[in-house]
Amino acid sequence: NPYDNEPVRNLDFIERSKIPYNAEPHLTQLVEHFITPVELFYVRNHLPVPDIDINEYELEVDITSTGVSRTFSMNDLKTKFEKAGVTAVVMCGGNRRSEMNAVKEVRGLGWGGGACGNAIFTGVRLCDFLTAMGVKSDEKSHVILEGYDRDPTYTPYSASIPLSKALDPRGDVILAYEMNGEPLNRDHGFPLRCVVPGVVGSRQVKWLGRIIIGDVESDSHWQQNDYKSFSPSVDWDTVDFSKAPAIQHMPVTSAICSPNPDHHEIKFTADGKMEVKGYAYSGGGNKIIRVDVTWDQGKTWHPADLVQLEDGENVSAGRHYAWTLWNINVPVEKNQHYVEVWSKAVDSNYNCQPETFKNTWNLRGVVANAYSRIGINLK
Ligand code: MTE
Repeated sequence: NPYDNEPVRNLDFIERSKIPYNAEPHLTQLVEHFITPVELFYVRNHLPVPDIDINEYELEVDITSTGVSRTFSMNDLKTKFEKAGVTAVVMCGGNRRSEMNAVKEVRGLGWGGGACGNAIFTGVRLCDFLTAMGVKSDEKSHVILEGYDRDPTYTPYSASIPLSKALDPRGDVILAYEMNGEPLNRDHGFPLRCVVPGVVGSRQVKWLGRIIIGDVESDSHWQQNDYKSFSPSVDWDTVDFSKAPAIQHMPVTSAICSPNPDHHEIKFTADGKMEVKGYAYSGGGNKIIRVDVTWDQGKTWHPADLVQLEDGENVSAGRHYAWTLWNINVPVEKNQHYVEVWSKAVDSNYNCQPETFKNTWNLRGVVANAYSRIGINLK
C-alpha cells in the first residue's frame, strides 16, 4: 500500500480526506499567529507522501531550448547559491470552497477558510538559480515543476508557472528547503519545494524532483483539467477545460476566523464588545489596504485594524506576499440574541471581494472569495 508510510500528523486538524491526506486547522487557532506554525499549516496532498533520503536526493533541471540538463544535490543547492527567504502565503485554489458549495453543489474537498497559511520560506531564489544555468528571459516560456510523488501509473504531480514570474527578482520565487527556519517537514515537501508567492497553492510543487524550461505549460491533469474557473452557467456536461487559463495569481479575499459560530468561543472586551478577527490576502503581490466590516448587513461599514508587514527592503509595492491579519470590536446590545458580521477586503488595485458566491459560482468551487459572513448566537 503506497499510503503505508505517511508522516505523523497533528491530531487536532480538521481532516478533509484521509487518503490522500488533506486537513486544515481550526480558524480560531490559525488567526492567533502572524507566522503560521508548521503544525497549524494546512496540508494538501494529491498522492502518497514520498520518503526521500536527503543524501540521495537529486534535483534535475532540463532546459529544452539549449539542451542543457544537469542535476543538483541538496549540498549543491545549499553551498553554491546565496540563501534567501520570503514571507509568503500558500493558499489552496479551493480555500473557502464549502461556502460556495452552500449556494449550489461543487466538486472538490470541502475546505473551510483554513486551506492557507503564512510562513517564512528559505532557500535558493529561482531567478538566481536559472540565471546561473544560462536561462534568458522570454515571455513565451514556462517552468514545469515536477514532484517526487507519483500516481499509480508512475506519473508525477506536476504544475507550471510562466518563466517571466520565475525570473522576476521581485517575484520572489524560492526553491525552499526551510519553513519557519526549520527543514521542511515531509507533508510540506521535504527536502525541497517551490514557493511561488502570490500564486495559487497548486503551483507550489512539493518534493521537487525536476524543473523543465520549455515552451509549453505542464500537461498534467492539475495544470490542464483542474484549478481553473468558469462561468456560473458552465456545468459538467458543457465544461471545456481547454477554454480557461490555469489559475496563477489569487484574487483578493478575507475570512472571519474568530469567533467560531459552532464553538461559542466568543471573547468580549471590558466594555462588552465582541472581538472579531480574521485574515485578508490578495495574490500577485498586491497589498491589503483596507478590511471593511459590517454588523448591520452593509448599512454601515467599519475599517478593521490591520497587522501586516510594512514596506521596507523586501516588502514594497507589488511585493506583498504575506497575509494581513485584522481585528475589530463589534458593539452588541445587552439583550441582543444574534449578530451577523461580514468582512470584505480591498487590495492596492482597489479590487474588492464580490458580495455573494452566487454570481462567481463555478463547478470546481475554486477562487471562492465572496464576502465572509458569520452569524453568532449571543445567548
Ligand atoms: N506538490 C506536490 N508534489 N504534490 C501535491 O499534491 N499539492 C499542491 C501544492 N503542491 C501538491 C503539491 C496544492 S493543490 C497545494 S494547495 C499546496 O501544495 C499545499 O501545500 P501544503 O500542503 O504545504 O499546505
